[in-house]
Amino acid sequence: MKVEGNTILITGGATGIGLALAESFLKLGNQVIICGRRKERLIEVQKMHPDLHIVECDVSDENGRNSLFKYVTENFNDINVLVNNAGIQRAIDLTDGIKGLEGENEIKINFEAPIYLSALFIPFLESKEESAIINISSGLAITPLAAVPVYCATKAGVHIFTKCLRLQLSDTSIKVFEVLPPIVISELNMEYRKKIGTTNVGVKSDKCAAAIIEGLLKDNFEIENPALEKLKTATRKDFDRLFENMNNHDFD
Ligand SMILES: NC(=O)c1ccc[n+]([C@@H]2O[C@H](COP(=O)([O-])OP(=O)(O)OC[C@H]3O[C@@H](n4cnc5c(N)ncnc54)[C@H](OP(=O)(O)O)[C@@H]3O)[C@@H](O)[C@H]2O)c1
Repeated sequence: MKVEGNTILITGGATGIGLALAESFLKLGNQVIICGRRKERLIEVQKMHPDLHIVECDVSDENGRNSLFKYVTENFNDINVLVNNAGIQRAIDLTDGIKGLEGENEIKINFEAPIYLSALFIPFLESKEESAIINISSGLAITPLAAVPVYCATKAGVHIFTKCLRLQLSDTSIKVFEVLPPIVISELNMEYRKKIGTTNVGVKSDKCAAAIIEGLLKDNFEIENPALEKLKTATRKDFDRLFENMNNHDFD
């Protein structure tokens, strides 16, 4: 897809990968709108990038999504790209039973929101000559980490949903991309990262954004990290072995 001259909505664009993507798209001459729940963070980012448009929105909330759609389509009639980036990750110990699931809902934020936002925007995007939906899943959609079980399941869901969406929209003007990033240094699950001492482990968000832009330019519909590329020819047994190796630690 072309990476300049678009009007792009990035959910969760005030930090991490979303912000790095927003900055890259701005530099390339795109109009960029970002949303997030923390108004003060959005304002802070807009001060750094006065060209950036901001909207306060919780994408896990149906009314929030509807208002976002209304606001964006009424004020940015030429919007042609939706980036479903907003996400959270939680370490969940399921031996705690239902208590372990109390708190922020990964299913609503990571899984429900991209599905419903895509559905809301499809008729609008379809009317544009060139358009795209870009879903940010994760390498953990393919090789799960048991310490973050619901996260991995939601990302696997996004992976499957995106495959189906791509096929369903293949006769439209909407290109459907999936990005499966490697570990990126960001605010994601900071509490857990601090606990296991990995706050500085991973690639920088600007490097991740550069790889995404490169993949988009090449119409690489599944933008993977190099570790996943190597798994292209892996067997079911290889995946089982990898799962065992990745989870052969005490994550508590
Ligand atoms: N970092 C990694 O290692 C990694 C690897 C693979 C995939 N990913 C994926 O990349 C995406 C971006 O994550 P990141 O690493 O950049 O983490 P991040 O810095 O924590 O960014 C997540 C963003 O999503 C927003 N957000 C969360 N819940 C939201 C909601 N209900 N409504 C609207 N916005 C919401 C957050 O802002 P507010 O809190 O202000 O709402 C935040 O700006 C996520 O989907 C994540 O799963 C990350």
